[in-house]
Amino acid sequence: MPQLQKKQAKKERVRLMFNDIAHRYDFLNHFLSLGIDIQWRKKVKRYLKPFQPKEILDVATGTGDLAIELKKLNPDRIIGIDIAIEMLTVGNEKLSKKKISNIVLQQGDSENLKFNDETFDAVTVAFGVRNFENLNKGLAEMCRVMKKGGHVAILEFSKPKSFPFKQFYNFYFKYILPGFGKLISKHNDAYTYLPESVESFAEDVTFLKEMELAGFIEPKQRRLTFGVATLYTGSK
Ligand SMILES: C[S@@+](CC[C@H](N)C(=O)[O-])C[C@H]1O[C@@H](n2cnc3c(N)ncnc32)[C@H](O)[C@@H]1O
Repeated sequence: MPQLQKKQAKKERVRLMFNDIAHRYDFLNHFLSLGIDIQWRKKVKRYLKPFQPKEILDVATGTGDLAIELKKLNPDRIIGIDIAIEMLTVGNEKLSKKKISNIVLQQGDSENLKFNDETFDAVTVAFGVRNFENLNKGLAEMCRVMKKGGHVAILEFSKPKSFPFKQFYNFYFKYILPGFGKLISKHNDAYTYLPESVESFAEDVTFLKEMELAGFIEPKQRRLTFGVATLYTGSK
């Protein structure tokens, strides 16, 4: 099993890592979050529901769980893109099993989206932006391909702030989760990368500013589950 090579560019390391863990990713996601990740994705769907988006782009779609949840909005088409082909392979297996035809998963890089300006009514990302090599470029690309009046929804891990949940969560996230993650994924670094990447990620107002810099307007945030995750939303 290839290990993370610290000298490689972040994008390549991230791609290799998700390719390596792809076949365990869904199980680990639900197991390590006690299934709460499913509720978080539903929040994205609920946020977008009043806008009835017809064309949706799910960036860093991975195995397609958010795209599959967003299908309940009855859009004409959902495109999911990801740099890790193995994640998409697992996603495509799920789509075939569920006989879903209007979700298309394609390999693609968030920092260089192969779509025309103003193509989508809604653009989403779940637990992806933290992994972007160039956050500003990724967000700016998402904004470029979104129609004026469209909506963006970004789910990302954040850090709980209040006692005693913060202390309990930090212990779980730094000591328990990496152990179980390593055991089940058989990957040495993926589940130490997770807390490290959350720790170093710009959240709260810093992230809202990043959204504005990228061109989104009226960015807002809603902290979920004591701040373990945050839903950032905005328009154009
Ligand atoms: C934690 S997974 C999230 C997958 C999925 N959105 C979910 O909710 O389960 C992060 C995904 O981001 C993808 N990713 C990271 N950088 C990317 C980039 N520059 N462009 C596209 N996908 C990227 C990874 O390959 C990985 O599948």
